Amino acid sequence: MDFYETINKRRTIRDFANATIDDATIRKIIEAGMKAPTNDHMRDWHFIVIQDKQTVQKLIEKIPMKISNEEVNAILQDWNLDDACQQRAYRNAIPKQYQMLAEAACVIIPLFKQKTDILHPDNLSHLNGLASIWCCIENMFLAITAEGYASALRIPLEDEGDWARAVLKFPEDYLMPCYIAVGKPAEGIKDIEQKPYSLDNVIHYNLW
Ligand SMILES: Cc1cc2nc3c(=O)[nH]c(=O)nc-3n(C[C@H](O)[C@H](O)[C@H](O)COP(=O)(O)O)c2cc1C
Repeated sequence: MDFYETINKRRTIRDFANATIDDATIRKIIEAGMKAPTNDHMRDWHFIVIQDKQTVQKLIEKIPMKISNEEVNAILQDWNLDDACQQRAYRNAIPKQYQMLAEAACVIIPLFKQKTDILHPDNLSHLNGLASIWCCIENMFLAITAEGYASALRIPLEDEGDWARAVLKFPEDYLMPCYIAVGKPAEGIKDIEQKPYSLDNVIHYNLW
């Protein structure tokens, strides 16, 4: 797949068909991740690849399986989301958090080493490890797309990261930035509307 075709095709998909993914493809996706830029030249990243459904179920136990419209409304209010397009996107995404991971062909947990307290950084450079793993994650998303699969991600909330560490047994000094769901898109799903933008509005030549 051509690079720009891959860029344009990559979309977050939260409805997966019943499908599998082979190890060779998973390795290509992770290899693409490992090619991403890195702040400290170490690429001290690990990836837990989970295809065993029982392990996935244990891992996602803390994520609400069902969420009512009232609960979604409360979340939108709590997060101060007042843009209509943004609200529609969240209304679509919030109820699918459990399902997208449960139904994925595989769940990948990327891990990066964090030496300082990430929630209390002294300066921006203390977040470089987090920034680098996100470069890695985007490379993986593009590779997933190029391989004919689709992806979704979830940021772990509350104690989900600690729970994941207990279930998957990764070391204390590694952090999980997100869950990655990989699968074949379900048939007939519609793209989620994105907030329109104009390049002319966002590019500033020489001065803002
Ligand atoms: C930092 C970050 C955090 C995100 N958190 C979540 C999340 O917790 N759950 C989820 O379903 N999607 C999450 N997403 C996916 C976004 O909702 C999605 O990328 C966005 O709606 C744009 O759609 P697209 O990926 O199809 O272009 C996150 C994306 C980013 C970059």
